[in-house]
Amino acid sequence: MNDSKAAVTADMPHTVKMTEKQPILSVRNLKQYFKIPGGNVVKAVDDISFDIMPGETFGLVGESGSGKSTTGRAVIRLDEITAGSITFDGDDISGKLNCDVTGRLRSNMSMVFQDPMASLNPYRKIIDTIATGLDAHFPHMNKKEREQRVYAIMDRVGLSSSQANRYPSQFSGGQRQRVGLARALIMNPKLLIADEAISALDVSIQAQVVNLMKDIQDETGAAYLFIAHDLSMVRYISKRIAVMHLGHIVEAGLTDEVFSHPVHPYTRALISAIPRCNPSTERVRKPLVYDAEASGISYTEGTLHCVTETHTILATQRQYEEWTK
Ligand SMILES: Nc1ncnc2c1ncn2[C@@H]1O[C@H](COP(=O)(O)OP(=O)(O)OP(=O)(O)O)[C@@H](O)[C@H]1O
Ligand SMILES: [Mg+2]
Repeated sequence: MNDSKAAVTADMPHTVKMTEKQPILSVRNLKQYFKIPGGNVVKAVDDISFDIMPGETFGLVGESGSGKSTTGRAVIRLDEITAGSITFDGDDISGKLNCDVTGRLRSNMSMVFQDPMASLNPYRKIIDTIATGLDAHFPHMNKKEREQRVYAIMDRVGLSSSQANRYPSQFSGGQRQRVGLARALIMNPKLLIADEAISALDVSIQAQVVNLMKDIQDETGAAYLFIAHDLSMVRYISKRIAVMHLGHIVEAGLTDEVFSHPVHPYTRALISAIPRCNPSTERVRKPLVYDAEASGISYTEGTLHCVTETHTILATQRQYEEWTK
């Protein structure tokens, strides 16, 4: 193994130095711990760092409970973070936020939540749900203009404006997800966090919504933090991905790089579990099994190793050498 490739660089945490552009989002050493009854602590996110560039889609993948939603919620500051720093569009949003920064954060970053039913108020007409951002930032907008803005975004996400006065229970799961998307997009955010935004949808609808998100991104230049456990969809939409396990980012890089040369055993296991389209390769596919406990891999002992300038692995030196042999 080329030694220069194995350099450990604390200042290049799962980030990409490809352009001179500034990231729209920089997350450094983020920790999100939760105290739970009995005096225990859940380390839901444990020291992760990544950047998202303007207009790019960054995919966050990993099994259930790996810390993906917690990362999204921490980034948009729904939870008080335990440690680390988050910079969004030039503002430090890690500590206590003043009114100006809160205003910029709420109008420039939005989130589509994992559970559309739980995130929609059942007693609010969807016109009012979708207009939430407008009402907060433009309280004096006249009724006609507000309506037009809502109808336009409903149309954009494939909902009919004739449905605007209905309640969430009168929508299907797929339609509710579109309502969530409309609510998130109405402010034309610079960063959209899409937390399993399409997982609850039928496969045919998933493709429609992902293509819609791509089109909207082309039009608006929004960056996406796309959280999902369906690797195929993440692969399709993301330029770069990070693989999370047990609160850590174990591998990150350009999507093609990670899919064609996965290095971490957890990533290898995840990728080997994806069904193949070709029946003859699918018949002989043997998914790898990764048991974190049995493997003896301690993520806290690992440091970042660069496989290439754009591809990083969390590992000890010995593990890194073994995995890249
Ligand atoms: N408010 C909380 N209090 C205590 N534990 C929490 C809290 N929120 C999340 N956790 C725990 O943190 C861990 C990560 O949860 P998280 O919801 O981020 O996972 P996830 O990767 O989004 O999973 P999924 O794919 O199932 O959505 C889990 O063990 C979860 O139980
Ligand atoms: Mg989740």
